[in-house]
Amino acid sequence: MPASKPLRIALIGAGTMGRQHQAVIARQPDATLCAIADPGDAGRAFAAELGVPAYRDPRELLAAERPDAAIIANPNALHVASALECLAAGVPALIEKPVGVSLEEVATLVTAARRHSTPLLVGHHRRHNPLIGRAHEWLADGVLGEPTNVTALWQLHKPDDYFAAPWRREPGNGLLHTNLIHDLDLLRHLCGEVVEVQAMASQRLRGLPYADTAALMLRFANGALGTVNASDSASAPWSWELTSGENPVYPQQSGQPCYLLAGTAGALALPQLRAWRYADEPHWHAPLAEEAITPDAGAALDRQLAHFIAVARGEAVALIDVEDAARTLALIDAVERAAASGRATQPSYPWEA
Ligand SMILES: NC(=O)c1ccc[n+]([C@@H]2O[C@H](COP(=O)([O-])OP(=O)(O)OC[C@H]3O[C@@H](n4cnc5c(N)ncnc54)[C@H](O)[C@@H]3O)[C@@H](O)[C@H]2O)c1
Repeated sequence: MPASKPLRIALIGAGTMGRQHQAVIARQPDATLCAIADPGDAGRAFAAELGVPAYRDPRELLAAERPDAAIIANPNALHVASALECLAAGVPALIEKPVGVSLEEVATLVTAARRHSTPLLVGHHRRHNPLIGRAHEWLADGVLGEPTNVTALWQLHKPDDYFAAPWRREPGNGLLHTNLIHDLDLLRHLCGEVVEVQAMASQRLRGLPYADTAALMLRFANGALGTVNASDSASAPWSWELTSGENPVYPQQSGQPCYLLAGTAGALALPQLRAWRYADEPHWHAPLAEEAITPDAGAALDRQLAHFIAVARGEAVALIDVEDAARTLALIDAVERAAASGRATQPSYPWEA
């Protein structure tokens, strides 16, 4: 395909996130929206507004429009089925997170993705954020020394009407699968794999079939120990959404951290990208020197789309492929098993068996 022709992208699911993807496509001269598949009337109306063909079933769209690529932004439980349809049609796809809801279905997708040459990218878009890129560089340069502690916070208050869409009240669509999947993906990206999990979870506040509040303990392969303290019902400013300024729908609580990473030689706070180190030997009586850089937090979704266009054209390898995203889902699965059993639990990766 000549690089000069905009990539014809189909949107599968035109709700809140699908519309954000549409806005990003509209800003990208190298891509154009060619059709929408969404069973809802609002999706059809949106397609009509944009002047693109509308379909209720993604399979019909794929067969009729033969798009160059697709973005899958339907409910979590439909991601695997839609991704398999894209693979069968030979259409490269950007799959919203989580890659799937159960490890079993995701194992099927990992196996299918290995068999096909059609590339799939999973939408853990925060990894495309320049400030995460900088943090990754600092960590690779050894800013922490030997990593000791990882602290992640995700505490904010979702409004009740967020839960109006019936699919959001089903298992597999709560705090863990929809939200902490992002944070655990970033912790894997920044700090390496997690080998053991302990967890407590509570459904007390929302009365939904999944946790609204959770406290996790993580053992990383590099020996660091971590905690994640999270609630979707807390009136608190400590979450990526409220601190990073990445998405303007969330008023930024600047100055507040969401990730605190510490090691024998130094510490790093995100999203502020503030590092602390001792000038000489570490000593609790000596002052820690602080170094900060002003990060450019914006445009993660635009950068993700630019990467996806390159992946779809075969010019780049997916930064987050299905197997990588499946390893993050394996952590969510381990958290659920740990919370249910009260025991330390290891993540399992059935596609590796
Ligand atoms: N990357 C992020 O930061 C981010 C943010 C929000 C949501 N998401 C993800 O995006 C996905 C959608 O979330 P949302 O908030 O947009 O939900 P939403 O309820 O606003 O939209 C879902 C849309 O999918 C449509 N749909 C339902 N069944 C469908 C089907 N069979 N085929 C095609 N469309 C179908 C619905 O009609 C609706 O328009 C979820 O997987 C969610 O986890 C990601």
